[in-house]
Order: sequence, then structure tokens, then C-alpha cells
Amino acid sequence: MPRPPRLPGGLPWLGHARAFGRDPVSFLRRGREAAGDVYSFHLLGQEVVFACGPPAHETVFHADESVLSPREAYRFMSPVFGAGIAYDAEPAVMDEQLGFVRPALTSARLQTYLDLMVGEAEEYFSRWGREGTADLAVSLNELTVAIAGRCLVGEEFQQRLSGELPGLYHDLESGIRLAGLLNPYLPLPAFRRRDRARRRIAAAIGEIVRERRRTPAPDRPDLLSVLMASSYADGSPLTEETVAGLLLALIFAGQHTSAVLATWTGVLLLEHPEHLPPLLAELDAAFATAADTATAAADTATAAAPDAGSALDLRTLLRLQRLDHCVREAERLRPPLVVLLRKALRPIDIDGHRVEPGTLVMLSPGVSHRLPHLFRDPDRYDPGRHAQGREEGKAAYSLIGFGGGKHRCVGLAFAYQQVKVIWAVLLRRFELELVRSPNPPDYSTFVPGPRAPCLVRYRSRQSASQGER
Ligand code: HEM
Repeated sequence: MPRPPRLPGGLPWLGHARAFGRDPVSFLRRGREAAGDVYSFHLLGQEVVFACGPPAHETVFHADESVLSPREAYRFMSPVFGAGIAYDAEPAVMDEQLGFVRPALTSARLQTYLDLMVGEAEEYFSRWGREGTADLAVSLNELTVAIAGRCLVGEEFQQRLSGELPGLYHDLESGIRLAGLLNPYLPLPAFRRRDRARRRIAAAIGEIVRERRRTPAPDRPDLLSVLMASSYADGSPLTEETVAGLLLALIFAGQHTSAVLATWTGVLLLEHPEHLPPLLAELDAAFATAADTATAAADTATAAAPDAGSALDLRTLLRLQRLDHCVREAERLRPPLVVLLRKALRPIDIDGHRVEPGTLVMLSPGVSHRLPHLFRDPDRYDPGRHAQGREEGKAAYSLIGFGGGKHRCVGLAFAYQQVKVIWAVLLRRFELELVRSPNPPDYSTFVPGPRAPCLVRYRSRQSASQGER
């Protein structure tokens, strides 16, 4: 079996770190054009094999952990997750930990979170007033911080840390950088800020756990209550450190990624406003149906009809197919995680190439989502490609923004629901227009959103329809 071809160039030891750090997606795409679907290059003294395309994705996503290890690849995340949590734990322990989390992400629970998500979104955007300018990335980050706090940890969390949270999460995320691949414990200011933020959040969660244990209440609609009710096979409860660590890991895995997907969903849509009228028509029709159903139900019950025209239930959300396609298209063109990693512990063949132990194996949703044999005219924004009849991302392992196989994201449905709620609420409330277009990605951060500032002008749909100026 041949070794993957090596990309030429690169500096001694640093390898291609400069070009990769500047824009990993363009760098990896250029590499593919020059060397094919599987090739190798150097990054900070580390041999990397990049692999692209469904056959390679399938092999990597299904490889045994003793052959391709996410744990070894994601060691740089350990200081965020904490000792013995998620990727820092042995694979069997991580499996057990995820087993505690899954019951909190079932469709029945998602229904409960829906009301919380809608409530937070309505409350947040009511503060925008009738018209103005806002930074979309900053706003959706604040909103997803509030939603994650509410659905995962509970309302006490928001009360305790509300103003501080966006800054604390920012410090956690800024602590994930290329230098962490070498050693995530180097004495860098960014790593110190990351550790301080983690201690502060974990301490707050610990206080809430202790308080809830002191004053037990009926089932609360958050993930913390699920974790506190969980126990190991021998019946012993999860320790306070494990509960706090798991929550932190989930917030970290799901909050900023959701904020970035929500931001790109809107930015791409507003950069292509020709897609807005059919989307708004779909929203209006779905809410009108919900209102009719509620009125009929109220008539039958001879009670006053609730204002279902403004409420968002799960059935209404599921009717929003065009919105779903817009989120999918944002996932395709601007996946929040642009590279996924594994460390080879034993030799493995990937798409006809031998990969040796010690190699870092890299997949890239950012590159694979633009393969022309999977997605027609791949650089074009075209939400309709996900509609019935075309379904371009349906082929196995072609859309991998949430990973695949054993380690596929457990929060996918939560994230999609959240992004759709945000845009259903926002588009129904406001007419929106980008101040600047296009908005290129900012690759200086681990989860790349649009380069700051990402400003939108907004105006209440109500005042617009009344012709107010
Ligand atoms: C737009 C938002 C999100 C994106 C793009 C995203 C993406 C991903 C990806 C790509 C993976 C696989 C990583 C790999 O194979 O190397 C993953 C795993 C994971 N995600 Fe998400 N995620 C998102 C939201 C969430 C949310 C909301 C949660 C939890 C509430 C979550 C929890 C997890 C966990 C626990 C894993 C590890 C699963 C495992 O290794 O078995 N994610 N996510």
C-alpha cells in the first residue's frame, strides 16, 4: 500500500503552519488540487495526513479507538473539559459519560427545551427595540449563551453569572489554539485566562449542585437535573466534579458552535436576499396553520383561543423546511468545526494509502462540503440543493459538519432546533439587512465566524408594514 503523497514546501519544523493557520480550508483545498484526496504535510513537527471524500470519512469515523484515537488527537482540549472528562477519559468511561447525557437530548426533552429557547429568543430580541443596528455575531453569541445556560445548567446559572458568561466562554474558546497541539499547558496568557474561566464556571456549577442537593425540587427542565439523577452501574451517583465537568464540556461543545452556525445561517441568507421572500411566506403559512389549529381546539373546548400565532411549537418548527435547508446550507458552506482530528495509534489504510502510527489524521468538513462530485456548483449558496428531489447532502458521509459514525455529535438535534428557533423568531420580528457584504470567515479563532464586526440593520416588521419611517 503506498504512503500518501507529501505536499512540497513548508519550513523546517513549522512545516505549513503559517498557511494552515491563516486559512486552513483554502490551504487544504489547494493541497487536494495538487496532491489528491489523501496527502500528507507537516504542522509544528507533526506529520499530518489529510483525507477527504466519503470513503475516507467512513474509514476514519468507524475506525476502532485503538487504531485512530480521538482522545489522543484532542488532548489539547483537556484543560477545558477537565481531568477524566470526555476526551480526557478512557474511551469506555467517555462512552459511559455520554450515556448520562443522551437521556437529556431525547425528542421529549427537546420539546421542553423548545419553550425555553423560544422564551429566551423572544426576550432577547424584544430588547432590540423597533429599529437599529446590531452585531449579529455578538448578539447570537449572547443569546446562545443564555439558551445553553437555561437548558443545560438551569436558570440559577444565568442569575449567578449572566453578565460574565459571554466573556468567560470567550476566554475558554480563545484558549484553544494551534500552540495547544504542542502543549496545552504552556505558560501563555491565553491559557491562563482559559484556566481562570474554567475554574469560575465550574465553581458556579458546583454551588448550584450543592444548593439543589440541599433543597431538592421536582424535576427541573434542564440537563443538570438529568445528570444529578444519574448513577453508575453500581448505583453510586455522579460526583460534583463529574457533573460540573460534563456540563462544561457540553457547553463548550455546543454553545459557540451553535452561535456560529446561527450567525452564518443569517449572514448567508442576507447576502442572498432573493431567498428571503419564499422563506418568509413559509414562516407566515406555518404560523397561520398553528393559529387556526389553536383556534379550532379552543372552540371545541369553548375556551378563549390562545395567541398561537405568536407561539412556536415543535410541529410548526418541523413545517419550516426551507429554513431547515438554509441551516443545512450554512452547515455545508461554513461548518463551525473546519477540521476533525484523530491520532493513528496503529497502521491503517485510508482510501488506498497506508497511514503509519504517530500520524495526526485530519478530515475537513470545510473542504469535503465543496467537493464538486457531491455538491453541484459547490461554492454557490443554494439552500434548494437540500430539498426533496435533489437532497445533495443525503449520501452517506457527504455532509459531515456534525461528524459521523460512533462520535457523531450528540447535540445535533438540539443545535438545529436552536438555530431554527432563533431565525424563526428573528425573521418574524424584523426586516434585516447586512451593513457589509460579503463577510469572510475569521480563521484566527477555533470556531470561525464572520470577521468582526458583522453588523445588521433591523426594523420591526410591524412598523415596516405600517409604513413608519
Ligand atoms: C452547531 C453546533 C454544533 C456543531 C457544528 C457540532 C459539531 C460536532 C462534531 C463535528 C462532532 C464530532 C467530532 C469528531 O468526530 O471529531 C461533535 C461531537 C460532539 N458534540 Fe457537537 N456540535 C454542535 C453542537 C453540540 C451541542 C449543542 C452539544 C451538546 C448539547 C454537542 C455535544 C457534542 C458531544 C458530547 C460530542 C462528542 C461525541 C462523541 O465523541 O461521541 N454538540 N460535535
